[in-house]
Amino acid sequence: MITESERTEFGDFQTPPALACRVVELLNSRGLAPRTVVEPTCGLGSFVEASLTGFRESVAVIAYDVNPDYVQKTSALNRISSTQGRLICQVANFFVQDWTATLESLLEPILIIGNPPWVTASGLGALGSTNLPEKSNFQNRRGLDALTGKSNFDIAEWMLLKLIDAGRSRDVTMAMLVKTSVARRVLSHLWRTGANVEAASIFRFDATAHFGVSADACLLCCQLGSRSSGECSVADLDRPDVSLGRVGWRDGVLVSDLLAYDRQRSLLVSESGSPTFRWRSGVKHDCSTVMELRRVTTGGFVNGNGQHLELEPEYVYPLLKGTDVVHRRVGEVRKWLLITQGKPGEDTSIIAKRAPNTWAYLCAHGEQLDSRRSSIYRSRPRFSVFGVGAYTFAPWKVAISALHKRLVFATVGPIEDRPVVFDDTCYHLSCDCEADARLLASMLNSECSQELLGALVFWDAKRPITTEVLERLDLRRVAARLGLASEFDRFAGAVRPSSQAVFDFDPASVRSAGR
Ligand SMILES: C[S@@+](CC[C@H](N)C(=O)[O-])C[C@H]1O[C@@H](n2cnc3c(N)ncnc32)[C@H](O)[C@@H]1O
Repeated sequence: MITESERTEFGDFQTPPALACRVVELLNSRGLAPRTVVEPTCGLGSFVEASLTGFRESVAVIAYDVNPDYVQKTSALNRISSTQGRLICQVANFFVQDWTATLESLLEPILIIGNPPWVTASGLGALGSTNLPEKSNFQNRRGLDALTGKSNFDIAEWMLLKLIDAGRSRDVTMAMLVKTSVARRVLSHLWRTGANVEAASIFRFDATAHFGVSADACLLCCQLGSRSSGECSVADLDRPDVSLGRVGWRDGVLVSDLLAYDRQRSLLVSESGSPTFRWRSGVKHDCSTVMELRRVTTGGFVNGNGQHLELEPEYVYPLLKGTDVVHRRVGEVRKWLLITQGKPGEDTSIIAKRAPNTWAYLCAHGEQLDSRRSSIYRSRPRFSVFGVGAYTFAPWKVAISALHKRLVFATVGPIEDRPVVFDDTCYHLSCDCEADARLLASMLNSECSQELLGALVFWDAKRPITTEVLERLDLRRVAARLGLASEFDRFAGAVRPSSQAVFDFDPASVRSAGR
């Protein structure tokens, strides 16, 4: 009997036999006729049994798992007369196995099938587990990427890439149940590195129904070969013949809808060009109980602990979150945000003089603020926040929620003469007047912009909207398409050339205006 933590550590969610049979049936119907099937993490053997019974009678199956109990149970399938000793099942740790030698020794065509563990390196780190590849930094991610958590990866992603690399000179097809995000990252890696994936398909299935876990999941099929198509068909596993579109590799990025992308490609920022405008993230503070406040009708604010506060208005701004933006609830705010800096790294001790109550409040909660876990706060002035700059304090903005599954751009103006700020679930562009903000919003909400952005977004991602996606749209080209070129040029002409911050507002002047 395995414990709950072992189940997590080894990604031990056994595939229901019916799902494994469905996968084999699909592969069979597509004409796949392997001579050898490899199940690298076979568990209780659903795919082993489905392969032995579903493919041609002569197929040989070779299966491995790190858990000796599972290997013993799966080996028992050999005693069924119909399998006729066609199964080899062994205890093996995926991470130390020589996969090139293993695949080299097998009869082709080879099918690698299974359901590798759905666990991330950081999840394993939290459990103190060593069930990891020795070299975790496998895609040469270093420095800042590693710092911001991008060096975290799914074990399944590592396993699939390892197997594909080991099988690159052999006739190999891979069919694995994985999270859709893993499938995308594997395909991106293969296409980016020029690996030869002749055909690829994603068949989505309901992971909650089959595994009781909430994740977007799919069967990823890749056929290795001598050339790369750079395209992958998408369908549901229950209705494999009904196409849901094609994802693919275009201009160095993964595209979620190739047809729409090709239709609106002329609106992309040119390869040599830089983005027209810099999209900015909202403010990051990692301490909502202290920094996010509600205003009380009788005066003052209340923090997340219910503590009543009398703060100077200078450092407090109306706050909108992604949910407000996506529903265009932007005329009033439910919360206010304490912003301690006008730009990154600014000395915060000045608050003591300018707003003594605010400083006393921050000091009283110093321990909580000092213990914010993210390393970005280390070696920074005390009470620092991130995602602030002149752009934060611009009076007008066009904003979008990064987390919602809708491309809604909302025009946001000041509230009570104070610039509205966003939390870090939003991105925005800044403008100095309402007319400019409305012009940008109408361009971004136009059909052609929405179609292009929609072709770049993967809605099942945790944060579907990113600055990388937004900054691929060339607003100058959108304006020309919509017949708004002169309005846009007038607006863009007012923008300072750096366009690092779309406008260089002086936060201090905005603060005093609000006082
Ligand atoms: C999601 S389960 C899937 C089992 C089986 N493939 C299926 O589809 O039912 C993942 C399996 O990976 C195995 N596993 C985890 N880490 C492993 C490793 N380092 N080497 C080999 N197998 C491993 C676990 O024991 C578990 O049986």
